[in-house]
Amino acid sequence: FPVDKIRNFSIIAHIDHGKSTLADRLLEMTGAIAKTDRNKQVLDKLQVERERGITVKAQTASLFYKHKGQTYLLNLIDTPGHVDFSYEVSRSISACQGVLLIVDANEGIQAQTVANFYLAFEAQLTIIPVINKIDLKNADPDRVEKQLEKMFDIPREECIRISAKLGTNVDQVLEEIVKRIPPPTAKLGEPFKALVFDSTFDHYRGVVASIALFSGQVCKGDKIVSAHLGKTYEVNELGILRPDEQPTERLFAGQVGYVIAGMKEVKDAQIGDTFYLQKHPVEALPGFKAAKCMVFAGIYPTDQSEYPSLRSAVEKLTLNDSSVKVQKDSSLALGAGWRLGFLGLLHMEVFNQRLEQEYNASVIVTAPTVPYKTILASPKLIKEYGQEVVTIVNPTNFPEKSSVVEYLEPMVMGTIISPDDFTGKIMSLCQSRRAVQKNMVYIDDHRVMMQYLFPLNEIVVDFYDELKSMSSGYASFDYEDAGYEPAELIKIDFLLNGNPVEELTTIVHKDRAYNTGKAMCIRLKESIPRQMFEIAVQAAIGSKIIARETIKAYRKNVLAKCYGGDITRKMKLLKKQAEGKKKMRRIGNIDVPKEAFINVLKRK
Ligand code: GTP
Repeated sequence: FPVDKIRNFSIIAHIDHGKSTLADRLLEMTGAIAKTDRNKQVLDKLQVERERGITVKAQTASLFYKHKGQTYLLNLIDTPGHVDFSYEVSRSISACQGVLLIVDANEGIQAQTVANFYLAFEAQLTIIPVINKIDLKNADPDRVEKQLEKMFDIPREECIRISAKLGTNVDQVLEEIVKRIPPPTAKLGEPFKALVFDSTFDHYRGVVASIALFSGQVCKGDKIVSAHLGKTYEVNELGILRPDEQPTERLFAGQVGYVIAGMKEVKDAQIGDTFYLQKHPVEALPGFKAAKCMVFAGIYPTDQSEYPSLRSAVEKLTLNDSSVKVQKDSSLALGAGWRLGFLGLLHMEVFNQRLEQEYNASVIVTAPTVPYKTILASPKLIKEYGQEVVTIVNPTNFPEKSSVVEYLEPMVMGTIISPDDFTGKIMSLCQSRRAVQKNMVYIDDHRVMMQYLFPLNEIVVDFYDELKSMSSGYASFDYEDAGYEPAELIKIDFLLNGNPVEELTTIVHKDRAYNTGKAMCIRLKESIPRQMFEIAVQAAIGSKIIARETIKAYRKNVLAKCYGGDITRKMKLLKKQAEGKKKMRRIGNIDVPKEAFINVLKRK
């Protein structure tokens, strides 16, 4: 296919602004899919994606489009719609020369519009602004054009007003893709070099990698190498995506397609890696990063007998998602399980939802934590860890203050866009989360954009829900990684009658110590049943007790009512108690039911 007739583009948008709907229309109008079943959203394949209306995994389609007697090959590279996947978004985008930036005509610019715009802008791509949903009764495309001009310097004449739902002006979008986006600068005569921008696992054929060819060509039987992993594979099959796989003989520079090359795990085709021919090594494309996990949580089967089936479900799910970090873990109370690392909160939620929906797994998920770091001072510890800066994975290994230079916590830059009626409330919410305001601008007469530097830990649990509810659903939120900053962190231990309960040990910021200690003691008190004796539930920092609750002694003896009664009844009662004890963990002389741990450890 002549390179000057190729256009590679992505659609980027805030969630729900109509990316999938527009993609479907483009596919229909170019004959890639039949015009049946409107709103089917062919590109979103996962069940959870359809249910939540968000795109998790990038999908790609090659479209043939006739314009003024010429046939063009338009490669639509679908990008995941959420901030958690921003590395995937930026890699997919780097396979393109242009993007369609969709903005909802009613909602206007939202937090992810801003993030996505800058990703495309920094990659120096042609940006075609598309204002969608003009069919809505309260659509206000004039206002959206003003916002785009004010925020991004986009001239109004450049905006295309469409209704993806009804198909209004979508033909114009196709025309403008051809007119405005430049063809790729592909070098046919040079050795094969391709960017891996997505990979999926197929049970029968192994890994299917999506690639964009920057130079050269590749065909069946070629031996290819992944630059960062240094592994060699033989190409068994390749072709284009329409959006289903359509095998071809060869792929050429400028094209986008798939290869199957006997790779066993998605880790073999990492997003951002470069493929080249074994016989013609080339320099790897810049910007490769391994996925970085920002949120960790423990996952345990509700019942240990379900461990094997949960293990197989976790394995299957991670086959298709190389960004989830999996580590075996075990808790005295909850048994064998895993500690999983995720790119962000949505990523974690989607993963859990898929475990439950697709594999019918019943799981306990612990409260999410963030990766803290310490800079060690003690030479002994430095030698033990083999390095000075250590990421703390398990709170029980948290090094004491006397042996560290400082503790560090992960930070994020959060962007909030909201109608200005809620500004005051949002500001106090952010302040209560230890956030520092960095920027505040009006994007039009009634809407503000605020930027805050947040400790990640302060937003992992319920920040987004609270923001949504205090703004009646109008505020949007997005965040990006902002490195690490020094923080005064403290380890809290929990004690039952003086005996530490290891699995409850928690690391918190010093300003949160008292409240966290108190809240967890109350939850423990509520979930441990009374026993024959009084139990002190305490939270401690080192040897200092910061909170205490008391579980009063159980007054009546269970056997009391059996006195004089017949022995079999007594035995039955004792047996019942013994069975109950199997699900107990003994701490000192106290029996704690598994449910108590679940109540305290679980996400609220
Ligand atoms: P993500 O996959 O989360 O990024 O969402 P999306 O941007 O793909 O949004 P999607 O296409 O799923 O559309 C979101 C909702 O808006 C759906 O209910 C669509 O039917 C609706 N929608 C999309 N385009 C239009 C439009 O032009 N007019 C109207 N009225 N509704 C639309």
